[in-house]
Amino acid sequence: MLQCGHCTCCCYLYYFWSWPELNEKQNICVKISWSEELIFMKVEYYVFSGTGNTLMIAREVGGRLAERGCDVSYRMIGKPEMFKIQGECVVGLAFPIAFFSSYPLVLNFIASLPQGKGRKIFMTATMAGAAMGAEGKFRSMVSDKGYVPVGSEIFQMPGNYNNKTIDAVKNKATITGALTEARSFADSLIDGTSRWNRGVPIIPSLWQWFVRSGRALRFFYGMFPIAIDNDRCIKCMRCLENCPAHAIDKNSESLFIYPDRCQSCQRCVAFCPVKAVIVPGKPAEQYRAMDFEEFIKD
Ligand SMILES: Cc1cc2nc3c(=O)[nH]c(=O)nc-3n(C[C@H](O)[C@H](O)[C@H](O)COP(=O)(O)O)c2cc1C
Ligand code: SF4
Ligand code: SF4
Repeated sequence: MLQCGHCTCCCYLYYFWSWPELNEKQNICVKISWSEELIFMKVEYYVFSGTGNTLMIAREVGGRLAERGCDVSYRMIGKPEMFKIQGECVVGLAFPIAFFSSYPLVLNFIASLPQGKGRKIFMTATMAGAAMGAEGKFRSMVSDKGYVPVGSEIFQMPGNYNNKTIDAVKNKATITGALTEARSFADSLIDGTSRWNRGVPIIPSLWQWFVRSGRALRFFYGMFPIAIDNDRCIKCMRCLENCPAHAIDKNSESLFIYPDRCQSCQRCVAFCPVKAVIVPGKPAEQYRAMDFEEFIKD
C-alpha cells in the first residue's frame, strides 16, 4: 500500500480511490473458498433411497455439480464395495428422513465412515413433511468424525408409505419444486454460499440413539409390518435381490421377510411388479418416484 510515512490520511485516500479494485479482490477471496476447490474435485456421493425420492434429488444435485465442472461418482449405500473415499474428494450424503432421523442402516453407515481429516462433506435428505431439525444431529455426527460440513438441505418430496390415495398432480408439483431447489442447492455449494444448519434441538440426542438402536423402527414395524403375499408373488426375485438389509429370503415354496432385519424402507413394496408386498390389514397405494429400470441404472 502507498504510504508517505507521516500520517494515515493517504492510506484512506488510497482506499477510497481504489475501492472497486479492492472490492473485486475481496470477491475473488470469497470465491477461493472450499467450493472453488470443489469445481476441480471429485465428489463421492453416498446415496440411500428406498422408493426413489432421494435418488432423484441426488441425481439432480449431482448432475448440476457435474455441469459446473465436478467429477461426480454415486455409491449406493447398502451395496457391497461402495467405500471409495480415497485421495482428494468431497463427500456427499443422500438419504431419506425416517423417524425424524434416518434408518438405522443409514445411521450406521455414517457412523462407519472413515475419519474425515478435514475433508468437506454435504448432505441432501428428503422428507415427506417434518425433520424436526435432524440436520443438526447429522452435522454433529460428521463433525465428530473430522469432516467439515459445508452444506445441507432437506427437500420435501411425496410421502412414500401408507398412502390411501396417490395425488399425482400434487406429487408432480412437489417433485418439480424439489428438483428446482436441488439445482439451486448444487449452485450454492459451488458458489460457497451453502450452509449446514445446526438444526433445532427439539429432538434430543437420546432420540437419535433410540432410532439408531432400532427401537423406533421396531415400534413402527409393529404398526406397519411388511409381508409377502405368496399367492400373488410371481417369484421374480426383484425384492430379494434388491433389499438393502438382506431381510428377504426364500424357502422351497415361498418368500418371507425377517422382521428384525427389515428397515421399513418400502423398496420391496414400491417395486414389486404385481403388488405382492403389502402391509397386512392396511391396504395402501404403491408409491415410487421412478420405474425400477430407472432406479437401478448406474
Ligand atoms: C419408515 C418411514 C419413516 C418415515 N419418517 C419420516 C419422518 O420422520 N419425517 C418425514 O418428513 N418423512 C418421513 N418419511 C417419509 C420419507 O422420508 C419420504 O417420503 C422420503 O422422500 C422417501 O425417500 P426415498 O424414496 O428415497 O426412500 C418416512 C418414511 C418411512 C418409510
Ligand atoms: S418382487 Fe414381488 S413378485 Fe417379485 S419375488 Fe418379490 S414379492 Fe414376488
Ligand atoms: S424387506 Fe423391504 S422394506 Fe424391509 S429393508 Fe428390505 S426392501 Fe426395505
